[in-house]
Amino acid sequence: MTENTLIIPAAGSGSRMNLDVPKPFLEIGGVTILAHTIRAFTNIGSVSRLIVPTTRSNIEVVKSIIQSEGIDIEYDVIEGGDERQYSIKNALDLIKHDFGLVTIHDAVRPFVKPAQIMDCISKADEKGAAIVAVPVKDTIKKLSPDHVIESTPDRSKLWQAQTPQIFRTSLIREAYQIAIETGFLGTDDASLVENIGHEVFVVEGDRLNFKITYPLDLQLATLLLEE
Ligand code: CTP
Ligand code: MG
Repeated sequence: MTENTLIIPAAGSGSRMNLDVPKPFLEIGGVTILAHTIRAFTNIGSVSRLIVPTTRSNIEVVKSIIQSEGIDIEYDVIEGGDERQYSIKNALDLIKHDFGLVTIHDAVRPFVKPAQIMDCISKADEKGAAIVAVPVKDTIKKLSPDHVIESTPDRSKLWQAQTPQIFRTSLIREAYQIAIETGFLGTDDASLVENIGHEVFVVEGDRLNFKITYPLDLQLATLLLEE
């Protein structure tokens, strides 16, 4: 198997969820969302190393979650940053080699399917950069600050980015380094790679791989995981 380091960012505060416990540590069916997500990858033997950035106060919590999953790969739990991008950067800084792949997957997308992971790995291996995404279903409007529609982009070209987002190690390290140097802040990993002019390929995913973001998402996740 190609060397594949999995980074699972879990350092967010979950402001849109509005609960005291951050989302990765909410339990569904007696298992944390983070553990469900880790299993999606370790069950199919798709990774050789795991790095989880989280908040300082949850470092020991994450270590015990990983240990109780009994996984037999090398892992590191480190402190994240104030933005997702900085959490990922801290994780990338632990990788000292330039071979193989880096897979980045949100802690709060526990429903990713094996086929999506495998398709994305093959595409990234072949092309250097690949992400999972789905076509948007709603018509998207671009608004002015006073809530007037400025434009309606052609829906047939619009896709919603999900994770996993998978890259050659050398490429993602370079993209993050340049983002730091130039002050570029993106809301996903692909945008940093796009920003340095490298093509990112899209693998069609599944709407079940939604990001648990709002209370309604948590209700849906609970229904699905307890099924
Ligand atoms: N994340 C992170 N570091 C941050 C912000 C987010 O590692 N500074 C992680 C989250 O823990 C989550 C993933 O990135 O697993 C996707 O982020 P998101 O769904 O936006 O989670 P939060 O930032 O926690 O939620 P919100 O934006 O509602 O505050
Ligand atoms: Mg966020």
